[in-house]
Amino acid sequence: MKLDEIGIWSEIKLNIVKEYASAFTTIMKSKEWCKGYAYIDAFAGAGVHIRRKTGEFVPGSPWNALEIDHPFTEYHYIDIDKEKTEVLEMLTREKFNVKIYQGDCNEILTEKILPSLPYRSYKRALCILDPYGLHLHWKTIMEAAKLKTTEIFLNFPLMDMNRNVLHKDLLSADPEQIERMNQFCGSEDWQEILYKKDNQMNLFGDIYRVKVVDSNAKLGDWFKKERLQKAAGFKFVPEPMLMRNSKGGPLFFLFFASHKETGEKIVTEIFDKYRKKYL
Ligand SMILES: C[S@@+](CC[C@H](N)C(=O)[O-])C[C@H]1O[C@@H](n2cnc3c(N)ncnc32)[C@H](O)[C@@H]1O
Repeated sequence: MKLDEIGIWSEIKLNIVKEYASAFTTIMKSKEWCKGYAYIDAFAGAGVHIRRKTGEFVPGSPWNALEIDHPFTEYHYIDIDKEKTEVLEMLTREKFNVKIYQGDCNEILTEKILPSLPYRSYKRALCILDPYGLHLHWKTIMEAAKLKTTEIFLNFPLMDMNRNVLHKDLLSADPEQIERMNQFCGSEDWQEILYKKDNQMNLFGDIYRVKVVDSNAKLGDWFKKERLQKAAGFKFVPEPMLMRNSKGGPLFFLFFASHKETGEKIVTEIFDKYRKKYL
C-alpha cells in the first residue's frame, strides 16, 4: 500500500504526543490505586509514514506509543482504512495488549472502547483524535469527556474547514459541508462567531453573511472555551498550538483537554518548548 507522506508539522505533532504519553505513563505507574492506563489512537493510520522531504520512514503515533519507556497497559488502534489496519496488525503482531479495529471511530469508540473506562474502573486513558478533516463527531468527544477518566489530544482540522466551509461568504458553502462542521463542533454557534450579516441580499433574497477578520483565532478561542471547557466539561484546556504548512498557511490547531491540572501543566510546557523552537 502507499504510505501517507507527512511534513514537518505532523512530525512536531508526533513528538508532542510521544513526549506527553511518556510523562503520562510515568505518572500513572506510580499511582497505586490505578488498575490500568490505556492508549487509544482513534485515527491511527498505518503506524508508519514517509517523510515528504527525504522519503525516509517515520514512525506514526501508534508505533511511538509502543516505544515509550513505561508502556501503557492496553492499546486500542482504530482506522477506517482496511489496508492501514492490516499494516498495523503486522507491526504489532507480537504485542499481546494491542487491539486493532477497522471501521468508523465514532462508532467503535462510543460502543466498544469508552464504555470500558468508567470512573469506577480505576483506569485512565489518553485518547488521540487525529483526523485529516471533519470526520470526528462532537458526540464522540462528549462521551470521552463525561467519563472523567480520559484526556484527549485533538487535531482541529482548520484546512478542511477553511477550504470547504468557511468561505468568505457563508452562502457560497455547500449545505452538506456546513452540516459536517456542525457535527464536528456539536453546535451551529460558530456561524455567529465567524460571520456578520451584511445588509445586501442576493437574487433569492438571502442576506449575505461575511467572514470576520482573524477568523482562525476566533474559532479556536470559541472552541476551547465554549465547547471543550463549557459544553464538554474539560476543566483544563491549554492554549492550542497552531500548526502551519511551509508557506505559513494554517493547517490545524493541536488541542489538549484534561480533567487534571497536571496534564495541562505538562502539555503547556511541551507546547511552549516547540513554539520557541519552531515559531
Ligand atoms: C492524520 S491520519 C492519522 C495519523 C496518525 N495519528 C499518526 O500521527 O501517525 C488520519 C487517519 O484517519 C483515518 N480515518 C479517516 N476517517 C476515519 C474514521 N471515521 N474513523 C477512523 N479512522 C478514520 C484515515 O484513514 C487516516 O489513516
